[in-house]
Amino acid sequence: MERLQHLLISLYLLILSINLTTITAQSPAPAPAPPGPTNVIKILKKAGHFKTFIRLLKSTQLDSNLNSQLGNTNNGLTILAPSDSAFSALKTGTLRTLTDQEKVELMQFHIVPMFISSSQFDTVSSPLKTHAGSGARFQLNVTASGNSLNISTGLTNTTISDTVYTDTHLAIYQVDKVLLPLDIFTPKPPPPAPAPAPKLKEESESPDDAVSKKDISSAKKPRNHVIGTACPGFGPRS
Ligand SMILES: *[C@@H]1O[C@H](CO)[C@@H](O)[C@H](O)[C@H]1NC(C)=O
Ligand SMILES: *[C@@H]1O[C@H](CO)[C@@H](O)[C@H](O)[C@H]1NC(C)=O
Ligand SMILES: *[C@@H]1O[C@H](CO)[C@@H](O)[C@H](O)[C@H]1NC(C)=O
Repeated sequence: MERLQHLLISLYLLILSINLTTITAQSPAPAPAPPGPTNVIKILKKAGHFKTFIRLLKSTQLDSNLNSQLGNTNNGLTILAPSDSAFSALKTGTLRTLTDQEKVELMQFHIVPMFISSSQFDTVSSPLKTHAGSGARFQLNVTASGNSLNISTGLTNTTISDTVYTDTHLAIYQVDKVLLPLDIFTPKPPPPAPAPAPKLKEESESPDDAVSKKDISSAKKPRNHVIGTACPGFGPRS
């Protein structure tokens, strides 16, 4: 009986010591940061005046996205980074009134999914496609004008004021205004008219039907008009 107790106790101690070893082995050692892949946030931090842009890249979780893309893409990336003073110059409340999705879109609008060196801007064809999308509501034109590179979104005119970083696959340029995409800051176009419902029964249009259809279409028009004037262009968003 005493032998069994001894055996159990030593077994217990053995298990305990194994557990302790595992725990010790798992505890994180303060490893030096590996030189690793290019880190966009690190570069922006070092520059010192992109605090708001960094905060937004993090809160929208685009930062990790960017770094993994840099590792995966052959086309590289170009980032147009608005300075802190660019964000301060925004109309008060501009950021606060954006939904989370709009914040993501705003950040994506500053990211071009290809590497553009400063000399290539002369030849790159506008509008540039950004991560936010392309098309009429996502215009981002860069035009060389004398020594400066002018940017126009339809709402924001500015120039590229500095090269923050460039290697062979990543370029980060400073812009002194936040680039506002038309898509977020102008009223959304009305949704396309729904396709006419398929007719189940062949029936001739009675005069009554025609009248009620007319009523509906004339009742719709003033409502659209009210929506249009309620959100005039780039007015204040309440
Ligand atoms: C480019 O920007 C500069 C400085 O803001 C301005 O003087 C010039 O007219 C702009 N050029 C074009 C083509 O918009
Ligand atoms: C951008 O360039 C396209 C094509 O040249 C032009 O149609 C569009 O009006 C320009 N948009 C802005 C905001 O400059
Ligand atoms: C941007 O510049 C163009 C011409 O260079 C001008 O027509 C337009 O009004 C400007 N837009 C804004 C928002 O300043």
